Amino acid sequence: MISQKSIQEIMDAAKVEEVVEEFVNLKRRGANMIGNCPFHNEKTPSFTVSPTKNLYKCFGCGKAGNSVGFIMEHETMSYPEALRYLAKKYRIELEETQTSQESIQERQHRDSLFIINDYAQNFYDEQLFETDTGKSVGLHYFKERGFREETIKNFGLGFAPAKGDAFTVKATQDGHKLEMLKSLGLTSKHGRDFFRDRVMFTLHNLSGKVIGFAGRILQKNVKAPKYINSPETEIYLKSKFLYGAYQARKSIRQNDECIMVEGYTDVISLHQAGVENVVASSGTSLTVDQINLVKRYTPNIKILYDGDAAGVKAALRGLDLVLEQDLNVKVVLLPEGEDPDSYLQKVGITAFQEYLKNQANDFILFKTELLMAEAANDPVKKTKLIKDIVSSIARIPDPLKRSLFVKQCASVMDVDENILINEANNMVTELVRKRRQYRQRDDSPRNPSPNNFLKPVPNQEQQGQDGTTKESKSNRVVLEGMQLQEREIVRVLVTHCGKVFDEEENLNVEAYILSNIEEVINDFQNKLYERVIKECLEKVISGVNFSSSYFVNHPDQEVSQLAISLLHSPFEYSPNWITMHNHPLQNQPDPDMNFKKDSINVVYMYKMKKVDQMLSENQEKIKQAQNEKDEGSYMTLLRIHQKLSQMRNDLAAEFKAVVLR
Ligand code: CTP
Ligand code: MN
Repeated sequence: MISQKSIQEIMDAAKVEEVVEEFVNLKRRGANMIGNCPFHNEKTPSFTVSPTKNLYKCFGCGKAGNSVGFIMEHETMSYPEALRYLAKKYRIELEETQTSQESIQERQHRDSLFIINDYAQNFYDEQLFETDTGKSVGLHYFKERGFREETIKNFGLGFAPAKGDAFTVKATQDGHKLEMLKSLGLTSKHGRDFFRDRVMFTLHNLSGKVIGFAGRILQKNVKAPKYINSPETEIYLKSKFLYGAYQARKSIRQNDECIMVEGYTDVISLHQAGVENVVASSGTSLTVDQINLVKRYTPNIKILYDGDAAGVKAALRGLDLVLEQDLNVKVVLLPEGEDPDSYLQKVGITAFQEYLKNQANDFILFKTELLMAEAANDPVKKTKLIKDIVSSIARIPDPLKRSLFVKQCASVMDVDENILINEANNMVTELVRKRRQYRQRDDSPRNPSPNNFLKPVPNQEQQGQDGTTKESKSNRVVLEGMQLQEREIVRVLVTHCGKVFDEEENLNVEAYILSNIEEVINDFQNKLYERVIKECLEKVISGVNFSSSYFVNHPDQEVSQLAISLLHSPFEYSPNWITMHNHPLQNQPDPDMNFKKDSINVVYMYKMKKVDQMLSENQEKIKQAQNEKDEGSYMTLLRIHQKLSQMRNDLAAEFKAVVLR
């Protein structure tokens, strides 16, 4: 254990603003500093750091604490891990007292993953700089590409020798367990080195620890893939990773802009040339998590893409997602056949930066111009294009920005501005209309709609680390909090999407469900479910129809696995739910026989659970107010209790009326 004296020393040294600033872009505001909360998704900063109190607090999600707490939460470290991290940062020598066997083991597992990766990095480094082949093949290659030695060191580039098991043999000789090497993907199932005869790129997390590797092949005309990457592990989650973020983060903050490229070498080249605020999505389309990572540092993104068809397609993919996060997105298309690295080498840094400045297009305009080139003389295509563009515009939360884009796009597409305005308004109002229609109650304050209460529950202590739950193959999943209800919603969406829920209203199942839960989508505890739901919402908004097979064949393996397991799981309500609530579900026919009832059920159960959650939280507060003899809060809380109970009754009554009809 770390001694009290050392802990005190760390606490005294670790200034919360210094610790937080490594991860969050903070601006001074009076005595405090403020920034975008790294723990939840927000558009206006409510994450506050008080240097005088040496504490942080987010007024949006309620997370609060000191330096150690911040590191624990943000870097998902245990208490001692966080202390060690801070001790290292402040160069404090730790005094350790006796440690219990258990805590040693706990720490050791995670630590050892990092230690082995570190060891591997040293190995590849040594191979590069100190072996003949490494020097003549690997180092030669990097130098040929123009990488200087300090760059090579800064990015942890290396070389993996051709010999089948050189690394594995050495690592095991040096005492590293084969099992661990395998679990990190450094060694294959058969005991051979995973990375062979490749130049190596090290993948760092935001605090600079090694979480994985990528290896690039040097031979030409071989069948093997150009790059191979470490598999996902508990320390390397691909959807949350951006290559170069560790080296770039300071510069991103300083420049208040993040440049996104596709390739590892693009990052390295630009960085070396002095453009340091650059990260790579590593060839896959952007994820919300990656976007949120950038958003911690800046709202301004500039995407640089190869000037070929694939590059353009990649630029368009996933970008609507970025718009929804209220980021300012610019796109720079490079000349045909060039990637950022090659173009930089060709024209030099001054011309390159000039190009970035002059060729930066606003994303929506970029998309419009690009698609217009194809659709100009084809009225059918053009109509589709208008819908497509408008659906992008409709996502922009800021109405001023929205109207500006409408103007510009109308001019590019050569259509009347009003057509776009109407189209956009239709899209925005459509969901609102559907939602109204299916609201259980009107919005009078005396009789609040459950929808209005489905806002974030302020104190979500019961939520897991990041709200994720692994889907197990056997369908036996332990789901906590709201996750069971969330899963049910996803189940119905996946099973029944496309079916007509209300013929008169031309409303299908997905539109019904999503319009009922739209306000709380960002609240989903389970991130996988949230991803599926958001994708559905995107499709509903852009008027695309889809069916179960869409999910079963989904490119994202996690989604497709989930869809398969949901489609094959026999229908069952949680026994807990039935005994707890004693509502008429028991008497219902198997909802697979009746998808409308199934849809109504899941929405009902979701809302009910939310209300129950709020009731019990309120109950806690009532107790507290009683204990503290706080008459004022007590009365307010009681009124809230009454309203919630009323809502609960109304929900139940409404539900009975509908299902027993
Ligand atoms: N990529 C990958 N696996 C592949 C191919 C590509 O992971 N088989 C990812 C890598 O992150 C790569 C990026 O996609 O950096 C872009 O691929 P590409 O343009 O082919 O490579 P470059 O980065 O340009 O690499 P180089 O300049 O060395 O050719
Ligand atoms: Mn390249």
